[in-house]
Amino acid sequence: MKTILGIDVGASGIKGALVDLQHGKLSGERFRVPTPQPATPAALAGAFAEVVEYFEYRGAVGCGFPAIVKNGVAHSAANIDKHWIGTSIEAVFGKVCGTRVFATNDADAAGIAEMRFGAGKGAAGLVFLITIGTGLGTALFYKGMLVPNTELGHLIWKNHKSAEVYCSSSARERLKISRRDWAVRFNEYLLHLERLFSPDLFILGGGESKFFDTYKDVLQPQARVVPAQLLNNAGIIGAAAYAAENDR
Ligand code: BGC
Repeated sequence: MKTILGIDVGASGIKGALVDLQHGKLSGERFRVPTPQPATPAALAGAFAEVVEYFEYRGAVGCGFPAIVKNGVAHSAANIDKHWIGTSIEAVFGKVCGTRVFATNDADAAGIAEMRFGAGKGAAGLVFLITIGTGLGTALFYKGMLVPNTELGHLIWKNHKSAEVYCSSSARERLKISRRDWAVRFNEYLLHLERLFSPDLFILGGGESKFFDTYKDVLQPQARVVPAQLLNNAGIIGAAAYAAENDR
């Protein structure tokens, strides 16, 4: 199976790597550039092209993007510039790189990778992958099939704000609370999702997944809760897998 370049566009960094899709792992080093602020289409396209050029790569590129993505077009912009709404990620990035780009939601990309190669491998029931970073991203799978663009980080939460404002990594930083105090909040969110969806497994990804051992005892859902096995590379690997599936 071929090697494909996967790029995870995040609110703070754009990370890329060549991905070995047979084994579901990076086949070399990651390269990261900071996300330009404001993250307008033109600014992000320049940074995206820098990552593609670094790898001297010409094939199809997979892109995980932090927004609702339908047919390659962004339909929301919680942590990026609002000009993205209604813009084709695939057209803008494809034009500047001169290559085919296949874009999907970043949490869905991470979920695809974990279901295929990581903590969700073989999981048959209802699985939630939650990426915890600047935003709170969700990917929902039933019997291995993705329900795309679930956006449950934007569930209306206490004081009419979203769950993302209440318990993402950026919420922890904004409130200057310890990781365990943050985990108390995040546990409330997991219990709420459990009441609504009765999942069998929660997989926690994004930056906070690295610290799972320091707060796992705070989490109380009946469903199993595990850290993402591919950690922060899940988004890159899943983006590459998405491109491979769609480049036909
Ligand atoms: C966005 C999602 C994204 C998540 C993680 C949220 O604010 O609405 O589309 O998956 O952040 O980046």
